[in-house]
Amino acid sequence: MDDARQVFISFGGGGKEKTMTSHYAVKAKACSNIAVVKYWGKRDEKLAIPANPSVSLTLDALRTTTEVSFEKELKRDEITIDGLKIPHDSPTYIRVSGFLDRVRLLSGKHVHAKVVSENNFPKSSGLASSASGFAALALAASKAAGLDLARKELSILARLGSGSACRSVFDGWVEWVAGRENASRSSYARRIAPAEMLKVHDVIAVINSGEKKTSSRKGMLISRKTSPLFWSRARAARTDAVLAKKAIRSGNFEELGMIAEKECALMHAVMLSSAPPLRYLDPKTLLLCDSIVRAREEDGLPAYFTIDAGANVHVLTLPQFSKRVHRLIRGLNVAESIIESGPGPEAEVISEGGNNA
Ligand code: PMV
Repeated sequence: MDDARQVFISFGGGGKEKTMTSHYAVKAKACSNIAVVKYWGKRDEKLAIPANPSVSLTLDALRTTTEVSFEKELKRDEITIDGLKIPHDSPTYIRVSGFLDRVRLLSGKHVHAKVVSENNFPKSSGLASSASGFAALALAASKAAGLDLARKELSILARLGSGSACRSVFDGWVEWVAGRENASRSSYARRIAPAEMLKVHDVIAVINSGEKKTSSRKGMLISRKTSPLFWSRARAARTDAVLAKKAIRSGNFEELGMIAEKECALMHAVMLSSAPPLRYLDPKTLLLCDSIVRAREEDGLPAYFTIDAGANVHVLTLPQFSKRVHRLIRGLNVAESIIESGPGPEAEVISEGGNNA
């Protein structure tokens, strides 16, 4: 069965048609997230069912705001990201427009859409713009099409745009339940603890803000096909997800930090053992990671690193130590910029109604 249709049927039918003008616009905001147990590869490519569960913290400082309106006058979808109109033959256009097709199928609203999206941080720099991007798009597009999805359904829809986006639907500490092959509804995100349960700040050293050479989507496919470590790491991540949840719920930062560092090392071992090898790390990345470990072991700084598919380093620390982490990063002279983030809110609608048509 076609995957979009499967989602459609799982949701129990089409959306209720709202009486709206053709220029009814919905603007939504979503934050990115940092995973302490990572998603790297799918069990079921078609339905975007991950190889393992993952656990993350939603981040306030990295946000996408997206406005969507379905307009019957449009000949094709119009997509603008960070002020640039996306050409209709580009991979980004095809991906976003394909996602809008799912929303059209779900809602029965077979009209092209205008999408205007803004990130407050560099896109494709390993700072997970696809997470906040597809979470904001899922919310804005589904609402603009007249659907009123429950949070779980919204996370399932966002997952089909970009895996990590399903976690950005929620605030605080979030788990993506991996689910089963051929069962779209079995794979969804849920909040496992409010951010206050374990207060963590993420101090991000932006080491390279340029676009990464291999996208996460492509990279994880290469890893699944070629890395001999792929499935053993996925099994380890399953156990780590259980341990990470326990650490979060008991407020044990040291335990969580150690899991995050180990999990990051395992994911990068999979990347490096892929063919061709996926080397997202930069010498500056490793220099900073070493310094974090040294500051922890020698000076008792409560700080742990994690790295996504890029050179940038996320340093997780307790809020009262974030200034010390800033100083450490600045002193090494490795970062183009430093972004500090506390926990972020769930994806939310900012405005809805007629746009300026
Ligand atoms: O959702 P994607 O396709 O951008 O993949 C995200 C992958 C990592 O950021 C490397 C890990 C994660 O779980 O966020």
